[in-house]
Amino acid sequence: MSVKIGQIGLGAWGRNLLRTFYNLPEARPVLGCDVDTAQLSRISGAFPGVNWTRDYSELISDPGLDAVVIATPPADHFQLASRAIEAGKDVFVEKPLALNLDDGRKLVELARKNERILMVGHIMEYHPASLKLKEYISSGKLGRVYYLYSSRVNLGKVRDIENSLWSFAPHDISMIMFLLDKIPVSVTSTGASYLQKNIEDVTFLTLHFDDKTMAHIHVSWLDPHKERKLTVVGSKMMAVFDDTESTEKIRLYDKGVDTKLDYSTYGEYLSLRAGDILIPRINSTEPLMAECAHFIECVKSRKQSISDGRDGLRVLTVLTAAQKSMERGGAPVEIKFDL
Ligand SMILES: NC(=O)c1ccc[n+]([C@@H]2O[C@H](COP(=O)([O-])OP(=O)(O)OC[C@H]3O[C@@H](n4cnc5c(N)ncnc54)[C@H](O)[C@@H]3O)[C@@H](O)[C@H]2O)c1
Repeated sequence: MSVKIGQIGLGAWGRNLLRTFYNLPEARPVLGCDVDTAQLSRISGAFPGVNWTRDYSELISDPGLDAVVIATPPADHFQLASRAIEAGKDVFVEKPLALNLDDGRKLVELARKNERILMVGHIMEYHPASLKLKEYISSGKLGRVYYLYSSRVNLGKVRDIENSLWSFAPHDISMIMFLLDKIPVSVTSTGASYLQKNIEDVTFLTLHFDDKTMAHIHVSWLDPHKERKLTVVGSKMMAVFDDTESTEKIRLYDKGVDTKLDYSTYGEYLSLRAGDILIPRINSTEPLMAECAHFIECVKSRKQSISDGRDGLRVLTVLTAAQKSMERGGAPVEIKFDL
């Protein structure tokens, strides 16, 4: 039987979510909600069979719905998600889970207590290229991961509540923790506001892991380039994931520096290695489709999602520490994850 869905928030990203759920055979969006009539009239003709409302309370209390999808700006995530869980619905909430740790913890606890599925839209954990990279890292193909760096920049939608850190970096933070399968121990972060007071348009943050692995993230909506790129430097190989490429998203470089023994002096020397470049074939599944299908599968099987509430909380913990570091002029802030 298909999962009956109600969705709150039908803006730029919400429309993509609705279209994707609408096209999944196991899901059936039956009610869409947006406070803005213009958003409703813009899409209402495109989804036959879906009813529309401007009142989210009507949607949340609808006994015919199994699950609620939340794609409003993050300031509303906590209130809407907690009300939906309390009404007995499974919840998919867009990233970030909430705008502070207390709210995030309450949501995770509420979902646990009510035995509801709580999934956060960390889409990069469902991207076929991330899955391929994770396979390379966990199989040891890249060797020891020394460091990573990513950029998610463009000249794009300027937010007026959350800054570039909270708006964009959840993607990179969730992807990096997913790839390495660990949580950073500290973070340093700097950012600057140019367009609006106290809303940083650009953020540079560095995550430090206990084994000296380092991950640098650059996010901005005020940049001449559109870049979605992650570079992973390992002891054996290096990889670049470029999400703006249509098909050749990953390049694997057989490049590195080896330590060799010099038999004439019995000393060691460093030798550069620049071998082949491999472009692996990546499964062409649309990441959003994979993410939405995973939510439906979790609702049906009652299994925890890969990006469940705890995963949302891990990202929230890093964001909170990064924000604190930014407010302290880039001083390192320790990360402690407790639930
Ligand atoms: N996964 C991704 O790649 C991705 C990309 C963009 C945005 N997002 C996330 O999606 C969410 C929405 O972003 P967006 O760009 O679509 O924003 P948006 O501002 O374009 O749309 C938000 C919509 O929510 C509606 N809304 C706000 N409060 C409401 C309420 N209480 N009840 C009903 N409707 C309400 C607004 O009227 C608006 O139409 C954010 O959490 C954002 O971080 C994710």
